Amino acid sequence: MNAAEVSALMRERRTVKAYRAEQSLSAEQQQALLDVMRYSPSSVNSQPWQFVIATSPEAKARIATSTQGAFAYNAPKLLNAAMVVVFCARTELDDTHLAAVLAQEVEDGRHADAQAAARQDQSRRGYVELHRTALRDLPEWTTRQTYLALGSVLFAAAAMRIGATPIEGFDSTALDSELNLAPQQLRSVVLCALGERSEEDFNAVLPKSRLHEGHVLRML
Ligand SMILES: Cc1cc2nc3c(=O)[nH]c(=O)nc-3n(C[C@H](O)[C@H](O)[C@H](O)COP(=O)(O)O)c2cc1C
Repeated sequence: MNAAEVSALMRERRTVKAYRAEQSLSAEQQQALLDVMRYSPSSVNSQPWQFVIATSPEAKARIATSTQGAFAYNAPKLLNAAMVVVFCARTELDDTHLAAVLAQEVEDGRHADAQAAARQDQSRRGYVELHRTALRDLPEWTTRQTYLALGSVLFAAAAMRIGATPIEGFDSTALDSELNLAPQQLRSVVLCALGERSEEDFNAVLPKSRLHEGHVLRML
């Protein structure tokens, strides 16, 4: 993709506000989106997340239970989309998780020798400790990493001409309970619906609106 195509992609993509019912992604499209999440970058390669995927009507309905009341406008998107992803952040980065990350890096050949692996492990644990105790922002830190995966998916979906809706309008406490996330050291932070937009999607024809360059870009 060249520079002009990247620019056009961002100018032309629009959040899907209505999905065509009873649709699905191809296995290839679905796998590509899952790869994008799994290969998303994170600080010190901490990968402080899990992505909960729903494609069946039953699974999507479980997620849609978190859109009662003020968030009801998001329910049809979750029910009609081909795939819904719950982006979950880990509530703890404990020894088990950090050991799993290190073991994977060793298996993938990231470290020249045991000393190099130990140095990386120590550095990663240092960052985790910094956020847990000195900065006291571990939940915010893991949330930030998780949103990077969301951003990657939005761009990838646009590149594949798959419609997407990032969704913060849901009750995360209700969803955590529905999916029993807390005992798994997880909490839901944001959702993403993916699939083919309906012809009735009002947002598809609205002009794009963004603040002027001078408002948001400043060259030093
Ligand atoms: C983090 C985040 C949360 C959002 N939550 C919702 C939501 O709950 N429901 C919805 O219809 N759109 C949601 N949106 C979509 C925004 O309204 C949309 O991105 C914005 O208006 C710009 O429009 P565009 O994406 O079509 O360029 C969300 C977007 C982001 C980035």
